[in-house]
Amino acid sequence: VIDIRKLYAETGCFTYDPGFTSTASCDSALTYIDGDEGVLLHRGYPIGELAEDSSFMEVSYLMLNGELPSKDELDTFTYTISRHTMLHEQLMQFYRGFRRDAHPMAIMCGVVGALSAFYHDSTDIADPEHRRISSHRLIAKMPTIAAAAYKYSVGQPFVYPDNSLSYTGNFLKMTFGVPAEPYEVNPVVERALDRIFILHADHEQNASTSTVRLAGSSGANPFACIAAGIACLWGPAHGGANEAALNMLREIGTPDKIPHYIARAKDKNDPFRLMGFGHRVYKNYDPRATVMQKTVREVFEALKVSDPVFEVALQLEEMALNDPYFIEKKLFPNVDFYSGVILSAIGFPTTMFTALFALARTVGWVAQWNEMISDPGQKIGRPRQLYTGPTQRPYVPVDKR
Ligand code: ACO
Repeated sequence: VIDIRKLYAETGCFTYDPGFTSTASCDSALTYIDGDEGVLLHRGYPIGELAEDSSFMEVSYLMLNGELPSKDELDTFTYTISRHTMLHEQLMQFYRGFRRDAHPMAIMCGVVGALSAFYHDSTDIADPEHRRISSHRLIAKMPTIAAAAYKYSVGQPFVYPDNSLSYTGNFLKMTFGVPAEPYEVNPVVERALDRIFILHADHEQNASTSTVRLAGSSGANPFACIAAGIACLWGPAHGGANEAALNMLREIGTPDKIPHYIARAKDKNDPFRLMGFGHRVYKNYDPRATVMQKTVREVFEALKVSDPVFEVALQLEEMALNDPYFIEKKLFPNVDFYSGVILSAIGFPTTMFTALFALARTVGWVAQWNEMISDPGQKIGRPRQLYTGPTQRPYVPVDKR
């Protein structure tokens, strides 16, 4: 590892690394990925074990505090989060300003960014206590914001938070429930969704997290930073891939069409890519995809449903993994390949998929943001460039051009 700051100070040299394929932008104790081995650890704990045995609230505590909580610590944390789930009524007015067919991510960029207008204390980022409260507010309000975006899109009244439910149960009720009517949370669906949240909680310096860090490095308030992360996550090469993957699987439709799409993905004259395949860091099976695939079966069984896209997905995976192109380029299913199949079975429209990703990734974003602000050596993010424009030339007045 070359310390590029030292190299620059001593020689004036800097590296040219578009896409930051081999440049570390920070130190971090949060998440470890070994892409060659397909390993993902949060604070040292393997993602498979966290997804199997813990809860999203537990993982949130772990990411923010560094250690797994005791029972009492978990209860207190869960209670604290539940105290922040409400949105200011003025903020609910924002929704009515959007078109009904607005993408939930468009609404979330606006509403999350606007939180800073309601919590002026969040601008005092030097104070750890204010940072802590802002983090709790963000984690707590994201389900309310995402569910309201869904309700608005289908023309139904908003359902207010029910803090007697779990974090994920409350989100299901706000999304699929009806105001003032009882809503029974299906425990298998609740567990599956909670697991999806765990699988999306953090993933070290991905594009949206780097965006949050870069925005935060100037001292911007946390709500503005997370809104920037949401904007970045929306892209189809990042969080938008889960929506794109399910749309692709539906377009393929039947297993006999798979070879045609594999051929298109390999054709360099065709911009088509297998969505939900490939990863900048994983050159092996994404460990999150393994858990996702298993969860699909559990949800189908609990809801007594099936979906032909799952069969298409399984066969597509098998064909791609045996194809020399995908083997040579080390392209494996990523977290997004199966998540859409589960979310669709639960009842979420594809436009909500990335919003759910944003909800879960908020934990990673705020943990990374806190880590960065707490670092005494933290500097404003300021990449360099290789200039390719004209050399110096004299200005020519408009009547002489
Ligand atoms: N289908 C077909 N070919 C692919 C795919 C794919 N899904 N992904 C990469 N390749 C090929 C590229 O064409 C390239 O080939 P080349 O070397 O002949 O030019 C090679 O594999 C390397 O791909 P890059 O785009 O250079 O790799 P990069 O690390 O920049 O991109 C990315 C990673 C964006 C995830 C890419 O694999 C992709 O576009 N996948 C589909 C979208 C997707 O699933 N995104 C979700 C990522 S996970 C997440 O954000 C949660």
